[in-house]
Amino acid sequence: MAIRPILKWGSPVLHTASLPVTNIDADTALLVRDMVDTMYAAPGIGLAAPQIGVSLRVIVVDLSTGTEKGKLLHLINPEFVEKEGEQKHEEGCLSIPGYAGSPTRPARVVVRGLDLEGRERVYTGTELLARAFCHEIDHIDGLLFVDRLSPLKRDLMKRKLKKRARADDWED
Ligand code: NI
Repeated sequence: MAIRPILKWGSPVLHTASLPVTNIDADTALLVRDMVDTMYAAPGIGLAAPQIGVSLRVIVVDLSTGTEKGKLLHLINPEFVEKEGEQKHEEGCLSIPGYAGSPTRPARVVVRGLDLEGRERVYTGTELLARAFCHEIDHIDGLLFVDRLSPLKRDLMKRKLKKRARADDWED
């Protein structure tokens, strides 16, 4: 079990598109395990590899934060197959503790990726699961929820985040 530090807004790896995983091997399994441990410890409902400093396209999601069996899923090289409708709800992010925003997200998504055995996995998400998929896939594209807010709200929040990042002072 390895809980890794979660990088905060302003860390370059969070603002850079991650690379696809080209070889699913023992290192990938270790990465996923550490991501799950880190997500549960936080606790959070999702985590993307760049949040622990690894610039690879890997996400984990568990809407139950580990309290229910069978809810954990991981996806390697996830991509959207379908996006439909709109929803808007408040989101937070483990990389931006103490802040929240309400980006517009699709109401329903179909996401495809690989699991640790290299098998294709396809998931359909609505409501919170759709938002979680969008939030985590944004992470591997180098985007955080702040980047999805209206220009006014985005600029206001970014000014505050820059101060936090400079001082390395985040609410926990
Ligand atoms: Ni996040």
